[in-house]
Amino acid sequence: MTLRRAHLADAPSIAQIHRAAFDHPWSEADFAAYLASDHLWVIGDPIAGFLLIRAIGDEAEILTIAVDPAARRNGYARTLLAASKQELAGLGVMRLFLEVAADNLPAVALYEREGFLPVGVRKAYYRRESSPNMDAKLLSCALPAAH
Ligand SMILES: CC(C)(COP(=O)(O)OP(=O)(O)OC[C@H]1O[C@@H](n2cnc3c(N)ncnc32)[C@H](O)[C@@H]1OP(=O)(O)O)[C@@H](O)C(=O)NCCC(=O)NCCS
Repeated sequence: MTLRRAHLADAPSIAQIHRAAFDHPWSEADFAAYLASDHLWVIGDPIAGFLLIRAIGDEAEILTIAVDPAARRNGYARTLLAASKQELAGLGVMRLFLEVAADNLPAVALYEREGFLPVGVRKAYYRRESSPNMDAKLLSCALPAAH
């Protein structure tokens, strides 16, 4: 499967996948701006998923990851995570962090499977319209260079 760094021309496809995955979509302009300063990978041809990571010093944070609903459970997210970990480790990043809504079971399952461990909880972090606010799980994973 095709996996590569995103280009500016990919911003519309990435924004479309984000829109299909989240209640509060980010725009093409948002992704164009992220491209200038962060790490953005896409997978599939046509693009079926993407992963956005911010790295500062020897730490990095997953800002967002999404796969087109029609393309899920094909290993795209797992492949994106594996490739990003390898590349970031080569750049000197030692630890990867993320936060995920505690009720986002597919994402929690993905991260647990990929070796992320719990490092904290942000109580009632995610606002919900018709139900109580949801906790954020903080997860972390050491990258190979840190072992
Ligand atoms: C979470 C998400 C990115 C996973 O993408 P994906 O390409 O379908 O994931 P993969 O196929 O690589 O799955 C890898 C593993 O994660 C786990 N997993 C993924 N989706 C799952 C689901 N719906 N239920 C249970 N486990 C799941 C499984 O262990 C899976 O391995 P398996 O298929 O061999 O059982 C996708 O569901 C998505 O875009 N969700 C909406 C956006 C989102 O919530 N992003 C995360 C925000 S923190």
